[in-house]
Amino acid sequence: MPKSKSVSYSRTTITELMIPSYANFGGKIHGGILLSLMDKVAYACASKHAGTYVVTVSVDGVNFLQPIEVGELLSLHASVNHVGRSSMVIGIRVVSENVKTGEQKHTNTSYFTMVAKDETTGKPTEVPELELESKDDIRRCLEAVRRKQLKENYKDDFDNKISELQLEENLHLLEKERIVINL
Ligand SMILES: CC(C)(COP(=O)(O)OP(=O)(O)OC[C@H]1O[C@@H](n2cnc3c(N)ncnc32)[C@H](O)[C@@H]1OP(=O)(O)O)[C@@H](O)C(=O)NCCC(=O)NCCS
Repeated sequence: MPKSKSVSYSRTTITELMIPSYANFGGKIHGGILLSLMDKVAYACASKHAGTYVVTVSVDGVNFLQPIEVGELLSLHASVNHVGRSSMVIGIRVVSENVKTGEQKHTNTSYFTMVAKDETTGKPTEVPELELESKDDIRRCLEAVRRKQLKENYKDDFDNKISELQLEENLHLLEKERIVINL
């Protein structure tokens, strides 16, 4: 295994035509189709960096801000933003293009954490270090480090707050919700 690999070595793009079987009754592409394509490009990019098979461990920042229509060309651009010992954060930028007008829309940017596995033991295995070759590579890596810290802080805070949640004492939190309690 090489000691390090560059971001450009594993940079991957998948382009796919959005066909009618991908759409819901309203003619828009199912979110699940998009997630599946994002998982595919994340796998391709991460396994190229790791040089082994990988699994998806966590998905962050999936917000579908704009609908994707049948007939559009969808491009998913993936690159390794950060590596740990066995984990890799893959940033995925999704761009949809109307081929007739050439109009492009950025539908979402999401972050998949993938972990490299040893084929024989099935255990997480070390991946090469990441060579950053541009200011953009450095910025994305810094953002990934910051995102990881914020996520860890949020998880601790969230777990504490949720475990402390007593039903009777917190019923007022539901006062403004559009619910009917029908015990
Ligand atoms: C995630 C998994 C690999 C962790 O295995 P483990 O034996 O507990 O190993 P570790 O605790 O050493 O974790 C391995 C790496 O995963 C990372 N990791 C584990 N859980 C994570 C999470 N929720 N989010 C982000 N990274 C996570 C760890 O930080 C570690 O990274 P590092 O090696 O870069 O430091 C294991 O639980 C697994 O295989 N899960 C199923 C994955 C799968 O099948 N995905 C497909 C979905 S159907």
